[in-house]
Amino acid sequence: MTTALITGGSSGIGAAVTESLRADGTRCVVADLQPPQEPLDGVDYVRADLATAEGVESLLDHLAGTGVSRIDHLVHCAGLVHRSSFRETSRAAWERVLRVNLDGAIAVSQAIVPLMPRGGRIVLFASGTVFKGPRNLFAYVAAKAGVIGFARCLASELGDDEITVNVVSPGLTATPMGELLADTEAANIAGRAIQRRAVPDDIVGPVRFLLSEQARFVTGQTLCVDGGSVKH
Ligand SMILES: NC(=O)c1ccc[n+]([C@@H]2O[C@H](COP(=O)([O-])OP(=O)(O)OC[C@H]3O[C@@H](n4cnc5c(N)ncnc54)[C@H](O)[C@@H]3O)[C@@H](O)[C@H]2O)c1
Repeated sequence: MTTALITGGSSGIGAAVTESLRADGTRCVVADLQPPQEPLDGVDYVRADLATAEGVESLLDHLAGTGVSRIDHLVHCAGLVHRSSFRETSRAAWERVLRVNLDGAIAVSQAIVPLMPRGGRIVLFASGTVFKGPRNLFAYVAAKAGVIGFARCLASELGDDEITVNVVSPGLTATPMGELLADTEAANIAGRAIQRRAVPDDIVGPVRFLLSEQARFVTGQTLCVDGGSVKH
C-alpha cells in the first residue's frame, strides 16, 4: 500500500489532497499544527509544529510508534502567510514566516527522505506571488522563492534514486489562507486566462499527476496552477 505524508492537511489544499488520496486507498498521515474541523475516517492525524526541530522530531517519533517505516509520497502543504509592509514588519514576524515556509520545507524533507524508497515523490508548495512580487508579502515571497530553489537542488541530489521533487505554485485559492487575501481576489481573477475563483480541488489534480507513475521523468519543476495567471 502506498503511504503518503501530507503536511498542512488539516485545512485547505492539503485537506483536499488528503481526501483525494484516501479515496484511492493511499494510507494517509497528516501532520499539522491543528486538528482538522472534520477529520476523515482512516486518516492518521498528528499534531506538530513543523517549523521547529522538536515538532519534526515528534512527527518522526509518531511515525516510528505507529509502525510507519516507509513514506512513498510527501506533500508538504503546511504554510503561513503574513501581510505587512517591509518597513513595518518586525524581525520576529518575518523570521516566523521564513521558518514555517522555508525551514519547514527543508526540515521535513530532510526527515522524510531517509524513509523514502526508490521512485518516491516529493511535492512542495510555492505561490504565484513569487512571480509577481506584490506589496506587503515580502517574507512569504522570499520563503516561497527559496522553496523553488531548494526543490531544484534536492531534485539533483535525489535523482540517483529516481525520487522526484517538484513544486506546485497555486494562484489565490479559496481556503482559510486565501481568505486573508480576499480583498485582492477580484484583481487576481481579472489577471487570469480562466477568469474564475480557484478552489482547493483545482490544485489536487496537478498534485496527483506529480505523485503518479506517469510523472516519473518530471523533476525539479515548478507547476503554476492558477488559471493561466503566470505564464512561462
Ligand atoms: N490559498 C492560496 O491562495 C495559496 C496560494 C498560493 C500558495 N498557497 C500555498 O499552498 C499551501 C496550502 O495553503 P492553504 O491555502 O491550503 O492554507 P491553509 O491555511 O488552509 O492550510 C495550511 C495548513 O498549514 C498548517 N500549518 C501552518 N503552519 C504550520 C506549522 N508550523 N506546522 C504544521 N502545520 C502548519 C495550518 O495549521 C493549516 O492547516 C501553502 O503552502 C500555501 O502557502 C496557497
